[in-house]
Amino acid sequence: MSCQIIDGKAVAQKIREEIKKKTGELKKRGITPGLAVVLVGDDPASHIYVGLKEKACREVGFYSEIIKLPAGAAEEEVLKLVEELNKRPEIHGILVQLPLPKQVREEIIIPSVDPGKDVDGSHPFNMGRLFMGRPRVIPCTPYGCMKLIESAGYDLSGKHAVVVGRSNIVGKPMAALLLSRNATVTICHSHTRNLGTITREADVLVAAAGKANFIRGEMIKPGALVLDVGINRFPGGKVVGDVDFSSASRVAGMLTPVPGGVGPMTVAMLLMNTLKAVENNCEDVC
Ligand code: GUN
Repeated sequence: MSCQIIDGKAVAQKIREEIKKKTGELKKRGITPGLAVVLVGDDPASHIYVGLKEKACREVGFYSEIIKLPAGAAEEEVLKLVEELNKRPEIHGILVQLPLPKQVREEIIIPSVDPGKDVDGSHPFNMGRLFMGRPRVIPCTPYGCMKLIESAGYDLSGKHAVVVGRSNIVGKPMAALLLSRNATVTICHSHTRNLGTITREADVLVAAAGKANFIRGEMIKPGALVLDVGINRFPGGKVVGDVDFSSASRVAGMLTPVPGGVGPMTVAMLLMNTLKAVENNCEDVC
């Protein structure tokens, strides 16, 4: 069976071009979309992701600001920074890059972001809306996955979708989105028994376990649509997904590669969410 490789880079590029055009129109009316990224600590992967986000902002004409705080920063300091950003009118979107150092609790920082500026869709208010089937802002990676499914012309209705991973940022919102498209959804995680038996029943399989090459070909239903959310870096610099590409591509019907699949979509959807935040913040002029 031949496997179609979904080109996330191309889909993301198209979205970025649309955003660039809309940004140009906004700028003519005196509005420049502004994104602030808060980066606490020195996690090397986070520094790479934030750099990519800043470059993407520049390319579409956004104003962007990266605020770096040291690994030893106090929770109070991060809270104070977020509160300042909440008040600044030229900042439409705020993203607090995860993971945060241990002393800075995610459950305290994330709800401190103004839900109208929450471009990650992770504020409890926005997460609640998503789970009620009335999303206002959708977390970037699951949003990107849904756009890829759409670009492949795949109808989710009645299909069995299996999500491997239950993080707040990917697994849980992904499941909610698949459900909203009338898929029958199963969430698997590190305690799931007989994982392969479940994944082999998936018409759509989303791998977001954070484990390199974890999903092998024999765990995939022939012809399935497989979305690989993993970004795993080996010491030599090689990046692989959560799906073992070589064995999976012999079984799957459609597959996203790593790199060049879901990753570029995450960045594109962050730009999209920032643009939407502009619309939320200035309904009178937009
Ligand atoms: N770290 C890895 N992925 C993400 C993401 O989508 N959002 C944030 N805030 N941090 C991340």
